[in-house]
Amino acid sequence: MTSVARPAPASGRPPAYLQVAQLTKRFGSATVLHDLNLTVEKGEFVSLLGPSGCGKTTLLRLIAGLMRPETGRIVIADRELTRVPAHKRQVGVVFQNYALFPHLTVAENVAFGLTNQRRSRDEIKRRVGEALQLVRMAPFADRSVSALSGGQQQRIAVARAIVVEPAILLLDEPFSALDRKLRETMQIELRHILRDLGITSIFVTHDQDEALVMSDRIAVMNEGQIEHLGTPADIYTSPKSLFVLEFVGLSTRLGGTVVSSHGGEVEVETAFGRMRAPAQFRPGSPVVVAVRPEAISIGESEGDGRNVVRARLTDVVYLGAKTQLHLRGERSGDLIQAEIARLPPGGLPSGSELALTWRVEDTMVFPAPASAAS
Ligand SMILES: Nc1ncnc2c1ncn2[C@@H]1O[C@H](COP(=O)(O)OP(=O)(O)OP(=O)(O)O)[C@@H](O)[C@H]1O
Ligand SMILES: [Mg+2]
Repeated sequence: MTSVARPAPASGRPPAYLQVAQLTKRFGSATVLHDLNLTVEKGEFVSLLGPSGCGKTTLLRLIAGLMRPETGRIVIADRELTRVPAHKRQVGVVFQNYALFPHLTVAENVAFGLTNQRRSRDEIKRRVGEALQLVRMAPFADRSVSALSGGQQQRIAVARAIVVEPAILLLDEPFSALDRKLRETMQIELRHILRDLGITSIFVTHDQDEALVMSDRIAVMNEGQIEHLGTPADIYTSPKSLFVLEFVGLSTRLGGTVVSSHGGEVEVETAFGRMRAPAQFRPGSPVVVAVRPEAISIGESEGDGRNVVRARLTDVVYLGAKTQLHLRGERSGDLIQAEIARLPPGGLPSGSELALTWRVEDTMVFPAPASAAS
């Protein structure tokens, strides 16, 4: 790798390791990525999370150099890559459908990139051995890859990508074909390997749990843009938009209108009465008030600094470590979801009316979506 000495920045932070700036990609008349910006620090693991068709794979392909953007820049380690062809970018890629060479052995598959780089036989043997050790596949070196299970093939795909010590590793839903148990094991293993090697990675998934488990930061994408880039906790507790709130985790969402605003707090009129929340909106604004299920408690402890709703219990779902309650507002029909650690003694009969409360500070407010504002 050519390393360029970098002068210390005059002020502020050094530039990020990966910088994607104002990237736009069109297919015909459809704009698939709009002016997209993303920065990733060295050694960081960032997930791209978003619904099907939002542009995750397109972004990866642009970073890998497999496609050209209409506008924008891609820089890795101070190297402008926008016009550099894929094979000169030092980018490792792992796809959903392994894409291993079926006629080659495990070791030959892993050696592929090093052979292309014309490394010596000794070096190739050593590095392939180390990579297979890392993914716990050393005993399979001489097997045909077509004689491996899905999980084993995926490990080989990972070994093949990391053996060349890529400047960045791009993974596109690599575990989506695996069963749940194996997927969870692979998530943890891959995370350890990449952390140990300090490899900067971008991981595409539409599985929010996978993103929460694995990532240093998550980029939630919607229609070709990143709506929120933040730590898993940040995304969950302070989502930047209604879309991010709805895409990651469960929530109760109630429509309303802001009636007053002062001291960083608003009061919102909803079908359940007035609610308070830390936010700033003009009186008269149509909004959505939201709360996470685990922030809700049952009972009358209204006290100060809590919002209250009364609703009828429709379902009790036992999930082992917690119990989920589904309720409906009598007049509005709004669905409310709460999670409690333990049912009260005697249980909760379906159809009973409950008072639910949560702290004002756990209450989120978003502008109402345009279509629901009327
Ligand atoms: N080569 C192409 N030609 C035309 N349109 C394309 C092409 N590749 C992707 N698209 C379109 O671009 C949009 C984004 O596609 P992309 O594959 O990036 O989505 P994604 O977020 O990876 O979705 P998924 O979760 O389903 O894999 C989609 O509307 C898709 O139909
Ligand atoms: Mg995709």
